[in-house]
Amino acid sequence: MKRRSMCLLVAWTAWLWAASPAIAVPDGAASGTAELVCELRALAAQHPDPKLRSRDHLAAGLCMASFLPKEYAEARRIIDARPEEHAAFFYVNARTHHIDALVERAAAHGVKQVVVLGAGFDSRAYRFRDSQPKLRFFEVDLPATIDLKKKRVTRMLGALPGYVRYAPIDFNTQSLEKVLRRAGYDPARKTFFILEGVTMYVNDAGNRATLRFIRKHSPPGSMLVYDYVLRRVIDGDYAGLYAARWQAEGVAGMGEPFVTGWTPEQAAEFAQENGLAVLDDLGPEELTRRYLTGSDGRPDGRTTDWQRIIDAKVP
Ligand SMILES: C[S@@+](CC[C@H](N)C(=O)[O-])C[C@H]1O[C@@H](n2cnc3c(N)ncnc32)[C@H](O)[C@@H]1O
Repeated sequence: MKRRSMCLLVAWTAWLWAASPAIAVPDGAASGTAELVCELRALAAQHPDPKLRSRDHLAAGLCMASFLPKEYAEARRIIDARPEEHAAFFYVNARTHHIDALVERAAAHGVKQVVVLGAGFDSRAYRFRDSQPKLRFFEVDLPATIDLKKKRVTRMLGALPGYVRYAPIDFNTQSLEKVLRRAGYDPARKTFFILEGVTMYVNDAGNRATLRFIRKHSPPGSMLVYDYVLRRVIDGDYAGLYAARWQAEGVAGMGEPFVTGWTPEQAAEFAQENGLAVLDDLGPEELTRRYLTGSDGRPDGRTTDWQRIIDAKVP
């Protein structure tokens, strides 16, 4: 997208946000940040280096965003010309690789249920169908995003598949227990929970309730992956943090401001207080080493240094 149209988009979405008091996503609207990250995955799925290529070949069919050109080489020229503005491309690609690997690991450890919390346009339920046919998925999100997702899945597959249950919720105000039970969630089954790109948009009580639900309503050995932003970004202290101002102001302009963040110490305490065991807390160096280093041994690009990914389990 050209700079002028990006400014217009931000101004328009800022107006929408100002017109709505909701702190999550503007009332009744589908999530714009979900569109945005889906679009980044659609681009990464065309990466010429197979080591760096995202496996999300369904993203292009699930999202309608056009912040960047749809064709990889053209989009990549823009990304490389202004890398700080587009650092999310690298972070989202690393995050997708990491969580995809965890889905496979969970399935290998006997998990049969995957709950995607704040699912947006996540395509894992559909793209893991062939390789992991025993996995049953639950997709949980705000009602407007769920409705739009169902329309797009229907268009893509011809009908909604029986192996996915859709469960609308507002994490800030509603009970995950009620919503998931109604959708057929089985608390006795070892489960893998994905909370990708979500904790930062949800308030403290909503995040606490989610972690406690997992602790109380899934058996030991169940797993959770979630990412978080550093507390300083919530406080508007962007000094020395790569691309933090750009992204924090960008999502706020879309009506979806970051509202929750932790220091790594606070994140570990928060997980432990709510009964989960942290296995790993991955920062930019490790994400770059594992997922952003190309076949030529060089980093594909610079990811952000204020977003981290936690792998946790129910002890
Ligand atoms: C950045 S998107 C990430 C979507 C998806 N997990 C992904 O990585 O593609 C954030 C998602 O969180 C959802 N979300 C934000 N606040 C929420 C809330 N209070 N309750 C339920 N979902 C929420 C949004 O609707 C959106 O789908």
